[in-house]
Amino acid sequence: MVGLGTAGIADASLQVALELGYRSLDCASVYGNQAAVGAALTAWVASGAGTRDQLFITSKLWCDDHRPERVRAACEKTLADLKCHYLDLYLMHWPDAFVPGADNDVFGTVTIDHTVTIAQTWAAMEALVDEGLVRSLGISNFSVKQVEDLLAVCRIPPQVNQVELHPMLPQRKLVWVVACGLQGVQCVAYCPLGGGGYLAVNDLLTHPVVAEVAQLTGRSSAQVLLKWNMQRGVPVIPKASSPAHLQDNVRDIFSWSLTSQQKAMLDALECGKRFCSPPFKDWGNPEEGGPTKMSNLLAAEATEASKPAS
Ligand SMILES: NC(=O)c1ccc[n+]([C@@H]2O[C@H](COP(=O)([O-])OP(=O)(O)OC[C@H]3O[C@@H](n4cnc5c(N)ncnc54)[C@H](OP(=O)(O)O)[C@@H]3O)[C@@H](O)[C@H]2O)c1
Repeated sequence: MVGLGTAGIADASLQVALELGYRSLDCASVYGNQAAVGAALTAWVASGAGTRDQLFITSKLWCDDHRPERVRAACEKTLADLKCHYLDLYLMHWPDAFVPGADNDVFGTVTIDHTVTIAQTWAAMEALVDEGLVRSLGISNFSVKQVEDLLAVCRIPPQVNQVELHPMLPQRKLVWVVACGLQGVQCVAYCPLGGGGYLAVNDLLTHPVVAEVAQLTGRSSAQVLLKWNMQRGVPVIPKASSPAHLQDNVRDIFSWSLTSQQKAMLDALECGKRFCSPPFKDWGNPEEGGPTKMSNLLAAEATEASKPAS
């Protein structure tokens, strides 16, 4: 339920995290630190503190590597950097492909690759499971419609959809329709604390309502935000670099609950705000977490709802 986000993390923080008991690590090639993560993991295993099979390691295929012929090499590079023989989970980082070799800047302009489809990239990712390089597959930043489309063509279904989730952006349809209605694609919450400030200032952790709930519960604001997702069954992957934050995010986290009133106070913060919204992304319909075309499932619901009562 609580993994460690590793965007921007150094190996010293990772050593502390492993000592504190973190076992699920969320990595990605685009974070540029997988070699440092791999070094920390190797040192941890060599010290006798634990074994590889006690860890759950997630990584992600970057948008430059969507062309099928690039997928295996990208995964092998990740495995080499992390010094692992296999990944527990490999995600398609975004449902958007960039032209490889173009001067793509995720915080600026990118060149979208229209020559490759999600289905083609996914088939190449499925081959990684067949070959034993990865144990399961998932997606990230997919809308309800995009999940439906992938489920219609895939051989190996995605296990998770990692998306931005916190009280300001609950994305209930994405969480509930996809998890419960569509073959159990579990949502995982990134930016559960409102992000590290790389694209938008984090005004969630410091929000007075969050502080008020923290005071009512005797917990920290970060713990309150993590609990808000966990209590609705959504795993969280907060990133923390300081030992105090790393500890705060797992300390006693399972031993208490938000009351329905406290949860309602946090629910009232919903405003559709995203802390991770790179310029290349058009999110479309916020209800579905993505592009404007309505999903088949929600379209069927809408048709049903518009029928006159008999
Ligand atoms: N799939 C995707 O497209 C995607 C996008 C974004 C993120 N992610 C993943 O999700 C992870 C988490 O998201 P994120 O890093 O953007 O943001 P986040 O986890 O919501 O917030 C991180 C920020 O919160 C601070 N923090 C952590 N614990 C705290 C505590 N107990 N009290 C006060 N402040 C605390 C951190 O500070 P310190 O570092 O100083 O401790 C950091 O500034 C990433 O690391 C990455 O693995 C995935």
